[in-house]
Amino acid sequence: MTRSRDLRHWLPVGTGWVIKLCLIAAYLAGAVPVWRSQAKIVAYAETVELISLVMKALMTHIFPAYLLAGGGLLAVLLLYPFGRKMAQDQLESIGLVNHTGAVPILLRRYRDREHPRVFVWVFQNQSIPLSDWGDRRGAIETALDITIVQIRYGRGKNRVLLYAVPARTDLPEVIPWKDRYLSPDSFVLVLGESLLGPVTINLDRTPHILLGGSTGSGKSVLLKLLLMQALQMGAEVCIADFKGGVDFPPIWHEKCRMCFEEQELLDLLTELTAELQRRKGLLKARGCSNLDDYNRAAGGHLRRIIFACDEVAEVLDRTGADKARKEVLAQIEARLSVIARQGWAFGIHLILATQRPDAAIIPGQIRSNLDCRICGRADSVLSQIILDSTGAAEVIPKNARGRFLLHDGTVFQSYLFDEGSLHLGVSA
Ligand SMILES: Nc1ncnc2c1ncn2[C@@H]1O[C@H](COP(=O)(O)OP(=O)(O)OP(=O)(O)O)[C@@H](O)[C@H]1O
Ligand SMILES: [Mg+2]
Repeated sequence: MTRSRDLRHWLPVGTGWVIKLCLIAAYLAGAVPVWRSQAKIVAYAETVELISLVMKALMTHIFPAYLLAGGGLLAVLLLYPFGRKMAQDQLESIGLVNHTGAVPILLRRYRDREHPRVFVWVFQNQSIPLSDWGDRRGAIETALDITIVQIRYGRGKNRVLLYAVPARTDLPEVIPWKDRYLSPDSFVLVLGESLLGPVTINLDRTPHILLGGSTGSGKSVLLKLLLMQALQMGAEVCIADFKGGVDFPPIWHEKCRMCFEEQELLDLLTELTAELQRRKGLLKARGCSNLDDYNRAAGGHLRRIIFACDEVAEVLDRTGADKARKEVLAQIEARLSVIARQGWAFGIHLILATQRPDAAIIPGQIRSNLDCRICGRADSVLSQIILDSTGAAEVIPKNARGRFLLHDGTVFQSYLFDEGSLHLGVSA
């Protein structure tokens, strides 16, 4: 295995422009003596008897023959992915095959223009779901001796692109937040950095977020990073904190609407769903399809509303609850479900965090509408619940803090946000 990896670095696929330039130079350098001696070769071919006709024709047209044959060979050396067979064998050995046993085929490997450290491996996918690639991410990294930055479909689902850097390249353990990282675009929130650069989410495209990770993985820090940005962008932020306020010091209480117990939460969510209905009426009257259109058309200033809950599974867990409490919890769930389904158009967003590896607690209808999924350090059960793949268990190191896997396969280090220097510029 080690030998074959060493060998692969000598092969033209992705070996870089130096080898490619050497090959071209050798081809051109070879053309000079052939051109200079072609007259002698032609004369020699004419004098020699008993030489085959093909040989004679070749010698008589030695220079065009060199250009053609050499050019063809050069093209093959430059373009053919010689590492293909090796990559295929490695992927087969880790069981990345489709239902008929076919292995993905390496079509190309090239350096990414925007990120010179990154190579893009283009595979013909053989109808293997992207989640299978995600589930085997760690094994693929070992097999191909790379660190994967991102896995995604190429043009259509029959191509899978692996964005990868050399093995053992890693992100920094801490990246401090700086105010200048705040996105200038309306409701683009910055999460952190991957090896491809800053990682952002646009609430217009992925309006609700499900954030998971085991205890100490960095959920609360990331949640507060997002809420801080939302406040700076002028949103109204509501926070359900059932941990007695330990995670949200008093500065948050000044800027956000806080609720600490179930009835208060139900009242808040009832208000939010009523606001949703009110906004629905306003937008309908103006013939607008979303909040930004309405604000533009009506010169209005309806603010976005973010509802965040740091431990949603604890809040929704009905275990041991009496009838009255069960009723309250059912209503909380129903209102969350309405916001998850309809909130987007009316600028009402959910950010729900959990550390509980319990699929039953977050109802499917809410979960399926939380389309932005982020998972930190987690076991395979929690990773499966959050991302529908065991990827986070595979790629986030056991001691990592603030390291997350996004639903699109991007691994990033979230910015470390220092509350001590909190400047929540906009008052709620
Ligand atoms: N982005 C980060 N970069 C570096 N360190 C971080 C980062 N995020 C969190 N940490 C470290 O990890 C610790 C735990 O973070 P946090 O409280 O956010 O975890 P959590 O997932 O919310 O845990 P719990 O589930 O117990 O609430 C922080 O006190 C901080 O020291
Ligand atoms: Mg926490």
